[in-house]
Amino acid sequence: MTTASTGNLGSIFADPAAYADPARWHAVAKRIREESPILKVSLPNFPDFWAITRHGDVMEIERHPELFTNAPVPTLAPSARVDAMDQTPVKTLIQMDGEQHKANRNIVNDWFKPGNLKRLQERIDTLAEQSVDRMAAMGGQCDFVNDVALQFPLQVILSILGLPEDDYPRMLQLTQEMFGVEDPDIGRTGEDEAMLGVLLDFVKYFTALASVRRAHPTEDLASVIANAEIGGQPLADLDMLGHYVIIATAGHDTTSSAISGGLLALVEHPDQLELLQARPELVHQAPDEIIRYVSPVKHFMRNCQAPFTLRNVTFEPGELVYLSFASANRDDEVFPDPFRFDVRRENASSHLAFGFGRHFCLGAHLARMEIRAIFKALLDRLEHIELAGEPKWTRAYFVEGPKSIPIRYRLR
Ligand code: HEM
Repeated sequence: MTTASTGNLGSIFADPAAYADPARWHAVAKRIREESPILKVSLPNFPDFWAITRHGDVMEIERHPELFTNAPVPTLAPSARVDAMDQTPVKTLIQMDGEQHKANRNIVNDWFKPGNLKRLQERIDTLAEQSVDRMAAMGGQCDFVNDVALQFPLQVILSILGLPEDDYPRMLQLTQEMFGVEDPDIGRTGEDEAMLGVLLDFVKYFTALASVRRAHPTEDLASVIANAEIGGQPLADLDMLGHYVIIATAGHDTTSSAISGGLLALVEHPDQLELLQARPELVHQAPDEIIRYVSPVKHFMRNCQAPFTLRNVTFEPGELVYLSFASANRDDEVFPDPFRFDVRRENASSHLAFGFGRHFCLGAHLARMEIRAIFKALLDRLEHIELAGEPKWTRAYFVEGPKSIPIRYRLR
């Protein structure tokens, strides 16, 4: 379904700089949705892939996890890194399929259910209020990304894992390096070495944590993982590490990007900010519109295992399929006037920012709780807010959001 005109537009999916200019990115993605919704993308240094840009098509692929597996390539990577990705010794849920995925997901699934998360509400509200207290102490000016949005979700994740507060700065640095490797300001230099170095640092940290929790189990999530069994056998060390790594990473930059992207959307749409302040009950539903609008996880990849036809394209075994959640969430077939940021949007929760199906985000409920808590705490006290400089965006093609949002504000 590639047309001559859309032939080279597919580079937006693999270019970290393209994501750092969201307005342009979305304008190009709209054209692709309209002209070639399933676009064959061939780029130097990347394996070829099919970009899936319509909401319904992304769901259709996610409905067939046996035909479209996560392994061996769950996210886009340069050709030179694909083998390393498959051979990484630490596998996480996003690299697993079938029974292995099911058994491993079951270990942590209950922890993330709304019923269990309810008891964390107070802690999350307290952390959110403390974030706003810190903003107040900063005297009316801060960088919202670094000073608030990156700190708060990390504190939540590390709280549920049960890690000591002294370790927060180190985990902050590691998670940013893990997801920001394409960004020259964040990643370590040298792609493969950088990824391996970051992974090894995680491994060292969590190996030590697991042995402590095995000797002295507590009520935290780290203890659940350290003492888990599959088929009556304790988890292999590397599988256990995979759980820590995915929770420490997947729960952090994703949520902080949603929070900072959400704040920027509110500053840029003062009518929506006023509406949320005038009708605080809307803060309950606003997180879904924020997540739809920001779509912090830009994509996941799937690996085709057997011929499958969608529209008039037949995917062949071995081909890669790129699920563009960012594009699907602006699909006018599902979201009327999709570029409008509207906290009252009725079907906002139909977004695919958390994916769909078997790999549906484990932390979706937790993420909504966090976004709700921070905006509630902030909007309760906010009298005035404006940009104090140009926002900057991270350069990354997997998880991406604002890198810096200088703001001036007045709090009650
Ligand atoms: C706004 C914030 C978040 C966004 C946008 C997000 C997005 C996603 C997406 C798109 C997937 C893949 C779904 C698929 O393949 O269909 C995913 C998976 C996952 N997420 Fe999230 N996520 C967020 C927050 C969190 C949080 C807070 C946690 C946990 C602490 C978390 C843990 C996970 C895990 C463990 C998986 C893998 C699930 C599996 O493969 O079975 N996420 N997330």
